[in-house]
Amino acid sequence: MNTSTEELNIIKTVLEFCESGTTQLQSDVMLNPVNNYTDTEHVNLEINTLFRNFPIIVGYAEQLKEAGQYLTHNETGIPILVTRNRTNEVKAFINVCRHRGARVVNEPCGKANTVSCPYHGWTYDLNGNLRGMRQPAGFDGVDKNTHGLVELPAFEQFGLIWVQPKPSDEKIDIQSWLAPMAEQLTSLNLESHTMFRQWSLNLDMNWHIALEGFLETYHFCSAHKNTACASYLDNQSPFLDKYPHVRNAVPLARITKLKEQDPETWDYRSNFMTQNYIFPCNFIQVMTDHVYIHTVIPTGPDSCVFKSVMLIPESALTEKAQKYWQANYDVVRSVFDEDFEIGEGIQKGFATKVNTNFIFGRFEAGLQLAQKALDDALKGHLTVPQMR
Ligand code: FES
Ligand SMILES: [Fe+2]
Repeated sequence: MNTSTEELNIIKTVLEFCESGTTQLQSDVMLNPVNNYTDTEHVNLEINTLFRNFPIIVGYAEQLKEAGQYLTHNETGIPILVTRNRTNEVKAFINVCRHRGARVVNEPCGKANTVSCPYHGWTYDLNGNLRGMRQPAGFDGVDKNTHGLVELPAFEQFGLIWVQPKPSDEKIDIQSWLAPMAEQLTSLNLESHTMFRQWSLNLDMNWHIALEGFLETYHFCSAHKNTACASYLDNQSPFLDKYPHVRNAVPLARITKLKEQDPETWDYRSNFMTQNYIFPCNFIQVMTDHVYIHTVIPTGPDSCVFKSVMLIPESALTEKAQKYWQANYDVVRSVFDEDFEIGEGIQKGFATKVNTNFIFGRFEAGLQLAQKALDDALKGHLTVPQMR
């Protein structure tokens, strides 16, 4: 059985909640200024801090399985090119040509030994080195060695590709950054999964609104009353403070049966949906038999991009398997549509200036924990650890 001590404790906690009719409570409600959702200067500060100095998930390992495979990512405002080089390392670069700035690779993904700028044809290899300038006589005195693509910190961890969208002279210690989540994420074996669906939505709402839908479960039995509500216990999900990350274990309604069973036989995965917030904008949402990876990225004060990948444990080779996973995907998409419709309504309501603050309730713990970490980062109190 793969249930960890942490997970056994989560199960115990939930069964206690059921028995006593209680749930996890923060010491107080928290007020979050609505200005944080509407102010252009604030969102610019967020983009320049949270989306430059912290690793963002930009892809899944399967997309870069072989040397020469590459992918691009544009949503953070920094055009990013990610490659797998000949020595099997994942590399990331600013996808901007060193001649006169054209975007070198425009396709979402591909495979090649070198990439060639569409404007005048300068070519770069998988390590970003400038390999060729057409008609080099015209560039006498320009040192090829100092005109490679600008490198960005890139990592492969838990089968996911992470990039920090700003160059750094220091070496980031990604392992200690993700350490609070490592036990659980390792146990998921995401490396061996395969992508079933991938989608990206441009949403007319501040990015926090989209983010917050995954940081509390109070809304399940109202916003999702005809969909997700029936499957889960109502608002009885523990939040584990994994600062700056959060693990939110959402118990399925059937968990109450475990009370009659020997704790030795308790299985976590089949009784929970787990919403893992990985600071600042990444989610690893673990269902009983498959996993979603989401990122929410601001594109302005009133718009964001929601990117998502559905990972399944093995390829859906039969019609039955296709149908099964498609049905799961359809349910999730319709539940998210319910969230996003409400979110776009929240965005429209900002013009009324009715609220000065939003109220994060005592059991909306994920909201409180994530907001604390986000505030810390904006104040410069939270940074990614560097290698010594
Ligand atoms: S801008 Fe890329 S080759 Fe000229
Ligand atoms: Fe929701």
